[in-house]
Amino acid sequence: MPEDLRAVIIGAGRVAPGLARAINNAPGVTLVGVADNDLPRAEVLGNKLGVKAVGNYQEFLDDPNVDVAVLALPHWLHHQVAIECCKAGKHVYVEKPLANTLEEADEMIAAAEAQHVRLFAAHTQRFFASTILARRMLEQGAIGAPVYATDTWYKNFGLEGRPAWFLDRRKGGGMWLMNGAHMIDRTCWMLNSEVAAVKAWIGNPIYQLQADDSSLAFLQLKNGLSCAIIHSGFKKGVDKNEVEILGTNGMLKVDTYGSRLWQAHDGQYEPVEVQKHDAFTYEMTKFIEALQTGGELPVPISWGRHMVQVLCACEESSRTGREIILT
Ligand SMILES: NC(=O)c1ccc[n+]([C@@H]2O[C@H](COP(=O)([O-])OP(=O)(O)OC[C@H]3O[C@@H](n4cnc5c(N)ncnc54)[C@H](O)[C@@H]3O)[C@@H](O)[C@H]2O)c1
Repeated sequence: MPEDLRAVIIGAGRVAPGLARAINNAPGVTLVGVADNDLPRAEVLGNKLGVKAVGNYQEFLDDPNVDVAVLALPHWLHHQVAIECCKAGKHVYVEKPLANTLEEADEMIAAAEAQHVRLFAAHTQRFFASTILARRMLEQGAIGAPVYATDTWYKNFGLEGRPAWFLDRRKGGGMWLMNGAHMIDRTCWMLNSEVAAVKAWIGNPIYQLQADDSSLAFLQLKNGLSCAIIHSGFKKGVDKNEVEILGTNGMLKVDTYGSRLWQAHDGQYEPVEVQKHDAFTYEMTKFIEALQTGGELPVPISWGRHMVQVLCACEESSRTGREIILT
């Protein structure tokens, strides 16, 4: 058995406890520290987990015993901190989206290649049990040939609880980058294709912030299928988070977070049994396995880059009113 890799989490905010749980559950890796420039916040998490807490992540980058940096940072910091981690010889796990722009993504990928470290874009949605089962059922022809999917996510924007960076697109804020990254990943992964062209509207009609709150995107996929991404962080509304997939001989409905799946029978949806697991742990386990064996990452970095390309192309389409063909 190879020795455990030693990992640190940089950024002790909302997603960090889930990542810590995943590291603690995954074989082959040990959590050794948490960094946050808000030191008391790092200390709260570090004390709870029994690991070192620091205010400046540089301390971990200088430590030759740290092998892996798990970035749980505001989107605008992914580029800078990931490159610093690569230069320090650490493998890097970056929460989605990989970067704010395609240029940033390319620089991050180049830094990882130059330093011979692995760079991973964590797209969690494809690791949920219902997403995995839906993709398998589609491959096996459970609903005939897939035709298109609608991915709909309505949720409360939660203005009071949002950090300042989330309210400013220049810092990577807004619902589109935060959740569009999940929706495009899960639906395109289930339909088994990259995106060829997009037409989108992304706006801020509800809160009129410097960041979006609502969006509609139509994606044409390279394999000839299509999907619609419908998302809003509402002020008043009703929660909904589901993907519906239409086939030539049936329909599927997927609830990723709830790990639930339904197939249409006789004019109504009937549940399909799903064996639940912890998606964060499953994702981390596969990532660590790839580091230990040198095998393929569970989300190829080219896919992480492609997701940034699609997110930005949709923004460009919204700005220009044009369809954007991806090259
Ligand atoms: N996979 C998922 O389901 C999921 C869920 C939520 C968030 N995310 C992703 O996780 C990432 C973080 O999101 P969040 O909601 O946890 O953000 P957050 O704002 O809650 O947390 C970010 C943390 O980074 C810290 N930070 C800021 N600058 C820093 C610096 N220079 N050094 C060290 N720490 C610094 C902040 O103090 C804060 O504690 C984003 O990429 C987001 O998209 C993923």
